[in-house]
Amino acid sequence: MRLDRFLSNLPRFSRKDVRLALLAGRVRVDGLITKDPLHEVREFNHVMVDDDTLQIGKPARYFMLHKPPGCVSATIDPQHPTVLDLLHEPDKHDLHIAGRLDFNTSGLMLITNDGQWSRRLTEPTTKLPKVYYVETEQAIGAHYVEKFTEGFYFAFEDLTTLPADLIILDAHHARLSIMEGRYHQVKRMFGFFDNKVVGLHRESMGPLVLDPLLLPGEYRPLTAEEIQLI
Ligand code: URA
Repeated sequence: MRLDRFLSNLPRFSRKDVRLALLAGRVRVDGLITKDPLHEVREFNHVMVDDDTLQIGKPARYFMLHKPPGCVSATIDPQHPTVLDLLHEPDKHDLHIAGRLDFNTSGLMLITNDGQWSRRLTEPTTKLPKVYYVETEQAIGAHYVEKFTEGFYFAFEDLTTLPADLIILDAHHARLSIMEGRYHQVKRMFGFFDNKVVGLHRESMGPLVLDPLLLPGEYRPLTAEEIQLI
């Protein structure tokens, strides 16, 4: 929310008070004086006017998990363990998954309480490649590559997938880079050729790569550099 709106939503400030306080340099966001009424204020910012704290600002949290197969990408599930069960953190209800994976898919999963950050990571418009290591039941044909580049028509969503880069590693293994994350996207793409995906592992999302030190089920906080990359 814009800083001027944030302040004038508080009962103690009229719009005029807000303008004057900003002009006088009495408003600080995260310790820095800001006079810009359009300055974006989020729930993570510490906001002060003079010596009064108006918002403490909660910590933004970002985790990288090595999702094992056999757990659900949801916050609650009546039957199966969920990825959140693997996190030993307070206030888990505040966290969400940035880019779900199917029950049996393994690999990089990012979990955060920062909705803007996770949208940047997952929105097809930002075109961040997600890279998967794929194992298939049938042999992968050389002719697949062109079709992956061309796109697959998904009738349910009424769209054609963005160009995807398929690198065939051997008869049953490939590395696939896709821009979007449609429902069961990789399986549906291979399904076009009646080829079943029997193993799927996400290696990276944009510039964020699964830490090779994390065993399946393990997680760690992202570093400040990793958070900035998105
Ligand atoms: N595509 C799929 O089909 N499944 C996943 O888990 C991720 C991408």
